[in-house]
Amino acid sequence: MLNVMATLPPGFEEEACRELRWFNVKVQEVRGLRGRIFFACPEPEVVELNYRSRCLERIVVILLRCEVEGLEEVYRRVRGLEFGRWISSGQSFAVRASRIGSHPYTSMDIAREAGRAVIDSYLSSKGVRLKVNLDEPDVIVRVYQVKNELIVGIDTTGDWALHKRGYRVYDHPAALNPCIASAMIIASNWKPSDSLIDPMCGGGTIPIEAALKGLNIPPAKFRRKPLAISNLKVFQVYLEAFSAEGLCSEGSTLDIWGLDISPKHVAGAVQNSKAAGVDKVIKFLVGDATRLRRIFDRSFDFAIVNPPYGLRSSSPRALRKLYDGLASSMVRLLEKRLVTITHRVGTMREALLSNGFEIEFEKPVKHGDLPCWVLSARPP
Ligand SMILES: C[S@@+](CC[C@H](N)C(=O)[O-])C[C@H]1O[C@@H](n2cnc3c(N)ncnc32)[C@H](O)[C@@H]1O
Repeated sequence: MLNVMATLPPGFEEEACRELRWFNVKVQEVRGLRGRIFFACPEPEVVELNYRSRCLERIVVILLRCEVEGLEEVYRRVRGLEFGRWISSGQSFAVRASRIGSHPYTSMDIAREAGRAVIDSYLSSKGVRLKVNLDEPDVIVRVYQVKNELIVGIDTTGDWALHKRGYRVYDHPAALNPCIASAMIIASNWKPSDSLIDPMCGGGTIPIEAALKGLNIPPAKFRRKPLAISNLKVFQVYLEAFSAEGLCSEGSTLDIWGLDISPKHVAGAVQNSKAAGVDKVIKFLVGDATRLRRIFDRSFDFAIVNPPYGLRSSSPRALRKLYDGLASSMVRLLEKRLVTITHRVGTMREALLSNGFEIEFEKPVKHGDLPCWVLSARPP
């Protein structure tokens, strides 16, 4: 068994725990709103999670978790670890450090001291001086200091985190993190047999993530960089069994739609869906989300939407009008549930309530560094 820490977009811990349960992983500790989950799992599970998780961003095998008083203790604690199982003598390594809390030193200082400690530990146990490569290391040692807590581990994902899907050939200027899109899909309880629409789909992240889930295509299939596990000898025997190819299920009756008012974004969404191999199962259309009844003579079970937050251009009044138009056109053709994410929670809440939606929950999350809320609502 390995002790593991997974990181994810803060606020989506509940959805990530649901996903981990599907992988039969028993969660031990959740740092709510901090985007960290701790669990123990066998080695093959670490490989499987890297290939198949849709919500997690990085998976780190924990070597040490303790309290520390200062930088000298960081050195001493890391120096006491054995790295031979994780780093081969010919491999290079780098320490990536981050820090939360107030300390009389920076994360660069932590990285330097921990790096020195890794070299000294390896030299004394194996008689080899490890090479440091800060740009393209074979192995990444992660060091997190959160107030007094020190967590040291081996990154099994790599610098190219799991949310960098690789199918994004068209970059929408306000694209949603695919891990957030997937977590919203989990939060909605959408099943592949239900119809789904994203009426403000931009570059198509939400419909594409739903289609990948519906077809059981592992998100790692599109990575442009290999996972860090491919450099870790501990995982070599399991890699073949979980290669990203061969996990997809063929044939489906998915009913997934994406709509956007901008023809440029719709063309981009089609390009992205082609790159993800799901263009045959998503219907993309140019259209106005506030006038859905003019476009559709049918209903949808679920709507998952990431509307504009009005941060750059629109006035509060224009945003109210847009959210109200979305809620009033949506309410007439939605059967089961709407899940949405926005920075302007008050405006969205008002639009939903005044159009008869019942709000099931409203919860804080982070979209990058921006505080946002996810709202789940049922039509009347
Ligand atoms: C935050 S972006 C969505 C980004 C998308 N989730 C992605 O990952 O690429 C919001 C989108 O809403 C679209 N939009 C704004 N007003 C709209 C309307 N009335 N009808 C349909 N789409 C609209 C914008 O063109 C923009 O692409």
